[in-house]
Amino acid sequence: MSNETLLYICGIILAVSAVGVSFIGLKVKSFPGKAMPLIVVWFAIFVVGSTTFAVLHAKDEDANKAKEAKYEEAGEKAEREGGHVPPLKSGNESSGESESESEGGSEEGEEEAGAEESSEAAEEAPESAEEGEAAEGGVAEGGATAGGADPEAGATVFAENCSVCHGEDGHGGAGGPDLTTMPKAQNEPEAIEQVTDGGGGMPPFGGQLSEEEIQNVAAFVVQKVVGKG
Ligand code: HEC
Repeated sequence: MSNETLLYICGIILAVSAVGVSFIGLKVKSFPGKAMPLIVVWFAIFVVGSTTFAVLHAKDEDANKAKEAKYEEAGEKAEREGGHVPPLKSGNESSGESESESEGGSEEGEEEAGAEESSEAAEEAPESAEEGEAAEGGVAEGGATAGGADPEAGATVFAENCSVCHGEDGHGGAGGPDLTTMPKAQNEPEAIEQVTDGGGGMPPFGGQLSEEEIQNVAAFVVQKVVGKG
């Protein structure tokens, strides 16, 4: 007789006894009375018995499970080697789902991060534009100090090359326009361009004047004649 069978027998006896005792208790008013110790012992025997057999049975089951697990492993191996899908398919699927979910989450996170970055970039963009202008202004202003664009030296260049047409003070009169009204006289890069390449009736000075002289005269025009910077 196996431990499992004995466990079931103990369990059935316990259940039947419990029902019987409570039934008798309902019918017989003097119950349990003197029968009390007997009932206690009766239940104690089968409670201890069923507990013992339960423990023993559990051990048996562990041994069986270990055996089964071995068989299953062997079976799984055989299946995998045979190229079949491993048996824990649903588990794999659910794990796949959770992976994709987590991927989606990370993507969202990236998107958010990207949005933040782009918004930051957007915020920075005007700043950098301002900085760009400032840098240009810096070149224009700093040209006198750092880049060697010297409006004082430019004054000489202007007097020698430009005053013929634009007048001694640059306000025009001798065939050239008043520079304060001219768009390219408002900033040094365009003034340099105009002097170097000429245009609109004004001869190019790219071949006659050095880069430094052009920068200086442009600085003079923008800063002294027009009064910018
Ligand atoms: C031969 C005459 C002549 C000389 C010399 C001359 N210019 Fe001009 N300049 C002109 C004329 C004409 C214009 C008008 C061009 C136009 O309308 O686009 C002009 C325009 C300009 C402009 C404004 C361009 C624009 O479109 O905003 C600048 C700046 C300028 N000159 C600087 C100079 C400087 C600096 C020199 C000396 C290196 C010089 N010019 C020498 C005739 C001259």
